[in-house]
Amino acid sequence: MESRWKLIRPKYLLIGILITFFITCLISTLPFTTDKCICDDSDRSKRDSTNVPEPLRNLHRLAVLVPFRDRFEELLTFAPHMKRFLHKQNIDYRIFILHQVDRFRFNRASLVNVGFLHVRNEFDYIAMHDVDLLPLNDNLSYGYPDASPLHVSAPDLHPRYHYSTFIGGILLIKREHFIQVNGMSNKYWGWGLEDDEFYVRLKEANLMVRRPQNISTGTQNTFRHIHDKNHRKRDTTKCFNQREVTRKRDRETGLDNVSYKLLEVINVTISDSPLAILNIELLCDKELTPWCECVKTNESKDKKIVGENKKSSL
Ligand SMILES: *[C@@H]1O[C@H](CO)[C@@H](O)[C@H](O)[C@H]1NC(C)=O
Ligand SMILES: *[C@@H]1O[C@H](CO)[C@@H](O)[C@H](O)[C@H]1NC(C)=O
Ligand SMILES: *[C@@H]1O[C@H](CO)[C@@H](O)[C@H](O)[C@H]1NC(C)=O
Ligand SMILES: *[C@@H]1O[C@H](CO)[C@@H](O)[C@H](O)[C@H]1NC(C)=O
Ligand SMILES: *[C@@H]1O[C@H](CO)[C@@H](O)[C@H](O)[C@H]1NC(C)=O
Repeated sequence: MESRWKLIRPKYLLIGILITFFITCLISTLPFTTDKCICDDSDRSKRDSTNVPEPLRNLHRLAVLVPFRDRFEELLTFAPHMKRFLHKQNIDYRIFILHQVDRFRFNRASLVNVGFLHVRNEFDYIAMHDVDLLPLNDNLSYGYPDASPLHVSAPDLHPRYHYSTFIGGILLIKREHFIQVNGMSNKYWGWGLEDDEFYVRLKEANLMVRRPQNISTGTQNTFRHIHDKNHRKRDTTKCFNQREVTRKRDRETGLDNVSYKLLEVINVTISDSPLAILNIELLCDKELTPWCECVKTNESKDKKIVGENKKSSL
């Protein structure tokens, strides 16, 4: 028995060596498979972390840019309303309050330029959005405006402005188009007309503004206008040669030379609605636009109230 075992042993040894060889070969191929598995897993966990269910995920990201100053009570209504409204449409968005903190007159267009520069790397379209205009009709789509800009608050829907070239209130535009027209003019200090100038920029670039198509509501029930015009007087003052200059297409200024300091970015939450507040200090070139400050003394001489007729001759 003992001697026979000694004879058979080399045979087992050989088989053992062969098995070891095969196992080694198998193991040497394993690391690749393992790597692949790790990649898959980390991808999945990254996607899960967005908390958006798979079919609802959007490829595009919207930055809602809201020019702002002294309208805190309007913001308190705006923020939760927009959260509810955009959530229903599964829009991947973030709200940016463009808070003008310098003492110059309000400059909506320059604030939009600054907001755009801040978000352009992470968001591929923007909504220029008044803080006092709340969309009510769920057919008002805030989806990606691929072909051309979409004017959401169309003249036949806006509670107040009905002229055909009106594009104020709420306008969606994709990143490429905003860059193409060099953003907005920086010459519009005080209230009004900057959107009319922007209309001419779009027209010259052959970007036909689209409007919502399937809206069965009208001027009174498509939006809620929460502006209190008695409490919040609009700055319609015109001084120096502002009136002449701001009725012309501006070919000098725009996105590429808005002059500002971004002092602070503050994340806040209002009624469950997260948003970012950008504290922006605009700088004024007083040679180019002396009307960024209208001297308040000697009012009779400098100050001319032009009313609220927004229709321009641009
Ligand atoms: C019509 O409204 C629906 C939402 O109910 C929207 O998804 C669709 O894009 C709208 N169509 C047009 C042409 O605006
Ligand atoms: C929304 O759009 C659909 C057609 O897409 C239309 O039948 C419906 O009346 C619209 N609703 C409103 C409130 O505009
Ligand atoms: C923008 O450029 C124009 C033309 O070069 C110039 O006159 C203007 O001062 C510039 N504005 C700012 C804010 O830099
Ligand atoms: C503010 O929120 C944004 C987006 O969630 C984040 O990237 C950023 O780091 C936050 N900033 C601060 C100061 O917390
Ligand atoms: C206001 O007018 C008076 C006299 O017309 C003049 O002396 C004064 O310098 C003016 N003040 C300002 C700030 O323009």
